Amino acid sequence: MKHQTSSDWIARSLRSVWHPCTQMQHHEEVPLIAVSRAKGPWLYDHENKRYLDAISSWWVNLFGHANPRINAALKDQLDTLEHAMLAGFTHEPVIELSEQLAALTGHALGHAFYASDGASAVEIAMKMSFHAWRNAGFSDKQEFVCLQGSYHGETVGALSVTDVPLFKDAYGPLLRAAHVVASPDARNALEGESAQDVARRAIADVERLFEERANKIAAIIVEPLVQCATGMAMHDPLYLELLRELCDRHQVHLIADEIAVGCGRTGTFFACEQAAIWPDFLCLSKGISGGYLPLSLVLTTDAIYQSFYSEDITRGFLHSHSYTGNALACRAALATLQIFRDDDVLNRNRELATKLTIALAPLAEHERTKAFRQRGMIFAFDAVEPDAARAASFARRFFTTAVENELLLRPIGRTVYLMPPYVLDEEEIDLLGSRVKSVFESVMAA
Ligand SMILES: Cc1ncc(COP(=O)(O)O)c(C=O)c1O
Repeated sequence: MKHQTSSDWIARSLRSVWHPCTQMQHHEEVPLIAVSRAKGPWLYDHENKRYLDAISSWWVNLFGHANPRINAALKDQLDTLEHAMLAGFTHEPVIELSEQLAALTGHALGHAFYASDGASAVEIAMKMSFHAWRNAGFSDKQEFVCLQGSYHGETVGALSVTDVPLFKDAYGPLLRAAHVVASPDARNALEGESAQDVARRAIADVERLFEERANKIAAIIVEPLVQCATGMAMHDPLYLELLRELCDRHQVHLIADEIAVGCGRTGTFFACEQAAIWPDFLCLSKGISGGYLPLSLVLTTDAIYQSFYSEDITRGFLHSHSYTGNALACRAALATLQIFRDDDVLNRNRELATKLTIALAPLAEHERTKAFRQRGMIFAFDAVEPDAARAASFARRFFTTAVENELLLRPIGRTVYLMPPYVLDEEEIDLLGSRVKSVFESVMAA
């Protein structure tokens, strides 16, 4: 058979694959990229053109593509056990992973419940919260609270607590209404206000709602420290600390959605650690398998677990997915946690983040950017583009110019962000700094 070029694969893909989060007609203008292989932070197409994966393939990859250590663990697991159902059965990878995750929370949380995608973990946390209250005799607690600009996934329950109109509005009639409270986004600071002042102001909004109807509210769900999908909106850890107090005082569960911000992205393994709090439910996905395989999970407290433990089957959590606790995915996660330990990743990332901040400094100071922000290994800035039409097309134009310059970057609206794998070398850091700037300048000038 004749060698297939990128264009052959793209044409076949457009005929047969419905791509996610895409108005497919846009591909008449915006190029689809056919990836043939990947190594480290680089993706390669069929003509060997390379792209630096500066957003970790939708925030999942931690230690580079084709990582030798994760590959070796998976090859070994493949010859041992690929998958076995988790109801009535168990296996080594899922047990060890659950033990290690509980240990990472100092055993404040545990009883890991598994699924595959992030949205499924959110569904699980929401159902568990409601059911735990019901088991405790509070069946009126059925409502959920989310933050302005929140994103928790696209299944019907998760979309109900998502506040991104573009994703949500079309499905409005299918969704349960949630309460939306103010975002603690530090960019909301009024003249003279600090990020902590914004956090306090946002907490006052939650307090008003809880005072009025906490008896009807099961849980509030937050993306700790960084609301990623709304454009890397960052807040002060004080918000989480005060929210924990408020939830305790008003008997409302706190769900921490660490699907995007967990696994070291914000500088600590769990973002909640920076506020010295633990939620009642912690959702994890994306990076936990090193970006290799779909794996998500919810950790919860002994108290919640005990509220389901009964002779009565209907008090149990009768939720399942076919691939719950998949052995290959759990083994990839164990290899990922091993790399965190062996390579002292959190400390090394501190140095890496400093170097990247220095490399991006010309953009932070650029006259056409504002609100440069960084937390851990997440970096973002907003383009200053007063022209509405140009602002509306900014993300698409930036993406196209970036791929022409070997970069995979997908701005959110006017926000350009980087969330790279933790394996960049000096040359790649320099390349990122200089190319992001030149791409930005050419998009702003065009
Ligand atoms: C904070 C957060 N929650 C949930 C999700 C949904 O995860 P998934 O796309 O794996 O369903 C995402 C995905 O980006 C996310 O960023």
